Amino acid sequence: MLLKEFNRIARPLLEDPRLQKLAEYNHHRGKTRLDHVKEVAWLSFLWGKRFSLDCKAIIRGALLHDLFYYDWLREGPKLHGLRHPDIALKNAMKLTLLTKKEINIIKRHMWPITVIPPIYKESFLVCIIDTFCSTRDYISSKKFNVQDKL
Ligand SMILES: [Fe+2]
Ligand SMILES: [Fe+2]
Repeated sequence: MLLKEFNRIARPLLEDPRLQKLAEYNHHRGKTRLDHVKEVAWLSFLWGKRFSLDCKAIIRGALLHDLFYYDWLREGPKLHGLRHPDIALKNAMKLTLLTKKEINIIKRHMWPITVIPPIYKESFLVCIIDTFCSTRDYISSKKFNVQDKL
């Protein structure tokens, strides 16, 4: 039931080759960027359901929050951490029409590194889940992957 709802919202973006391309980039410790955005989208969706938030914005914003095409450990702009939300937003805008909430989710997902905080509960949630997933990728020896599920 939940998976069905998730897939209904996520599928149009996941089928787009510009999002699929993220499978070509390593993101955190052997996990591709596509794995990462799907994981953040799925977990954010589950918490979004629990708090009765706008799950469409959560899924779409989370899937697009790291839409950049370079290996950030080896290339890309200086101050990647600060700059990639804007790069991802620019790329996402070429891919689909975004709501204000989805824009805020992408643009503010690196808070507090990027000083201005998220303004919606949905953006705050994705920001927290992204930090959680990224931290877990580095500190846990167990590999978490939602790939098989989604
Ligand atoms: Fe990011
Ligand atoms: Fe991320």
